[in-house]
Amino acid sequence: MIDRLLPAGVASSELFSDPPELRAHPLEEELIAKAVDKRRREFIGARHCARRAMGEIGVAPEPILRGERGAPIWPRGVVGSMTHCDGYRAAVVAPALRLRSVGIDAEPHEPLPTGVLEAVSLESERSWLADPAGAAAWDGVHRDKVLFCAKETTYKAWFPLTNRWLGFEDAHITFTISERNGADARGEFHSKLLVPGETIDGGPALTAFDGQWMVADGLVVAAIVNE
Ligand SMILES: CC(C)(COP(=O)(O)OP(=O)(O)OC[C@H]1O[C@@H](n2cnc3c(N)ncnc32)[C@H](O)[C@@H]1OP(=O)(O)O)[C@@H](O)C(=O)NCCC(=O)NCCS
Repeated sequence: MIDRLLPAGVASSELFSDPPELRAHPLEEELIAKAVDKRRREFIGARHCARRAMGEIGVAPEPILRGERGAPIWPRGVVGSMTHCDGYRAAVVAPALRLRSVGIDAEPHEPLPTGVLEAVSLESERSWLADPAGAAAWDGVHRDKVLFCAKETTYKAWFPLTNRWLGFEDAHITFTISERNGADARGEFHSKLLVPGETIDGGPALTAFDGQWMVADGLVVAAIVNE
């Protein structure tokens, strides 16, 4: 499913259940030594996906340890991102020569819990959610959850480039919807960064990301592929 949001040359792998035979890499085990079963399963499943995807781009199945602020430490020469939620685990990887960064996020396709929207959105984003103009195209799509998913995707594409926190108030996200098929939907989003543009490796300042989102099989999935 997530591969539908990715261009050629970017590898992905996903799971919709947890095969009981999966194990953490021995060097990862200490990261989850004290974790409850749910946490172990999501950690192991997403890392299994990561190693499967790494295999597709010719990278050995190395451990993926945890770096600053919980960001995964990918093998040298690899960029990637992982996500897990109830009923879904996924990883996306690419050679660092192919991409600057990638971010993915998946969430159950349900409305945000009461009170969360105010904490994770800008007033302009809430105005868009409340605007009846164009709402018919989004009928049945939980736009608040799509917004949340795009925000977390933005953070995951941002952090490996900058090693900096980015708050929910630090990006303004706008959306288009391009396809509907029953309950399923997909479209694009634009994350305008509201923090001073970081310059990465002498390149142009980083001021925005473009991504894609999709609702399918009861999930919202989003990806930013930063080429
Ligand atoms: C880190 C965060 C985005 C994870 O999202 P989530 O929906 O809770 O969880 P997901 O299952 O989708 O993703 C978890 C995975 O993200 C990855 N991750 C964690 N921190 C990360 C970081 N700083 N940078 C990149 N990836 C990170 C890890 O691989 C993690 O899985 P693991 O702990 O098993 O290795 C979220 O917990 C968070 O801190 N959000 C606040 C920051 C934010 O979203 N800002 C919005 C900017 S507009």
